[in-house]
Amino acid sequence: MTTARAGAALGLALIGLALASLSGSCQGALQVGFYNGKCGFSDVEAIVAGVVAAQIGKDPTIAPALLRMQFHDCFVTGCDASILLDGKSSEKTAPPNLSVRGYDVIDAVKTAVEAVCPGVVSCADIIVMATRDAVSLSGGGRYKVETGRKDGLVSLASNVNLPPPSISVDNSIAAFAQKGLNVSDMVLLLGGHTIGVTHCSLFQDRLYNFQSTGKPDPTMDPSLASALRSTCPNPQTNVDNIVNLDQNPLSASIVDNSFYKQILSHRGILQIDQEIALDGQTKDIVGAIAGGLDFSARFGQAMVKLGALQNGSPGEIRQSCRAINTARKLPTSKDEQRTGKRQQRDNLRARSIPKRGF
Ligand code: HEM
Repeated sequence: MTTARAGAALGLALIGLALASLSGSCQGALQVGFYNGKCGFSDVEAIVAGVVAAQIGKDPTIAPALLRMQFHDCFVTGCDASILLDGKSSEKTAPPNLSVRGYDVIDAVKTAVEAVCPGVVSCADIIVMATRDAVSLSGGGRYKVETGRKDGLVSLASNVNLPPPSISVDNSIAAFAQKGLNVSDMVLLLGGHTIGVTHCSLFQDRLYNFQSTGKPDPTMDPSLASALRSTCPNPQTNVDNIVNLDQNPLSASIVDNSFYKQILSHRGILQIDQEIALDGQTKDIVGAIAGGLDFSARFGQAMVKLGALQNGSPGEIRQSCRAINTARKLPTSKDEQRTGKRQQRDNLRARSIPKRGF
């Protein structure tokens, strides 16, 4: 009896596995070097690296843009390139994504890889490989990335649950834990703020009226707050200026541990950045990274962990990173069929022009 039941269960499991592999799932087995030998004599990772280097050569601000893009893709429905899909209500129209940049860089990489081996390299893997190259070109060391992802079929603004800059440490820990990322991972990944910028509107309250006190945030170095007030005037003009996330001017474009030294000196820009240097749950980790020599290696490991977030939904290798393949058969479950059809309709409509915000 027990043997018969076990046999039936094994049979069901095998059928499930067979169906999953037929439909193609975003949840592939990821491995380092997945594309080795899959593209004739061409080296996919070298092609990606070449395009990324050329683009960053022209515009170094592409590096932080790509790094942020990976976070915003992977944190929402796993690393499935759902952020890249165009559409009236796709993820890129959600407020936290309105200032995400670098879509054209991903398009350029996709064009280059499609030219040598069409239909092989997923857009989701391109984001992860391009980000690794961007980090490495910005002085962050080179980590090995796993590949083998599929591109998702669904992208909805309503799925975007990215943390706002004013999130508390407790809530941020909970948000990362929900994705299987622990407190150290969270502190390391926030080290992404070692490069790039933020708009004044996203931390303006810290300079003038923190938590409705009518005063600046007392945790910010007063001389920094005073300097930032001239870049970010109150009331805001119609230009939303930008400020470096890493306030060490010598290191603002370099992926290194200087961001942690800055936040320990009360020179964090975003509220959450400053708070991880003060909160009992995170300050020792911040101190160890600031005082250590292993940030690059540990950051790479955390990025690989971020890159491993998947959702198990059906997937494909998109022809264009901006749209699902039109010839593709829609997913089988009724819900997914409805969402998929809506998605296809949206993809055909013009993209709306977004506004920034969280
Ligand atoms: C609690 C988590 C996080 C919050 C609340 C947060 C918030 C923000 C905000 C508000 C900005 C400025 C956006 C703008 O002005 O338009 C920003 C920029 C940025 N974030 Fe995060 N972030 C978080 C985690 C991460 C992670 C995990 C990474 C990467 C591993 C990352 C990488 C970046 C980068 C590189 C930029 C600069 C983008 C550029 O210069 O274009 N962030 N983040």
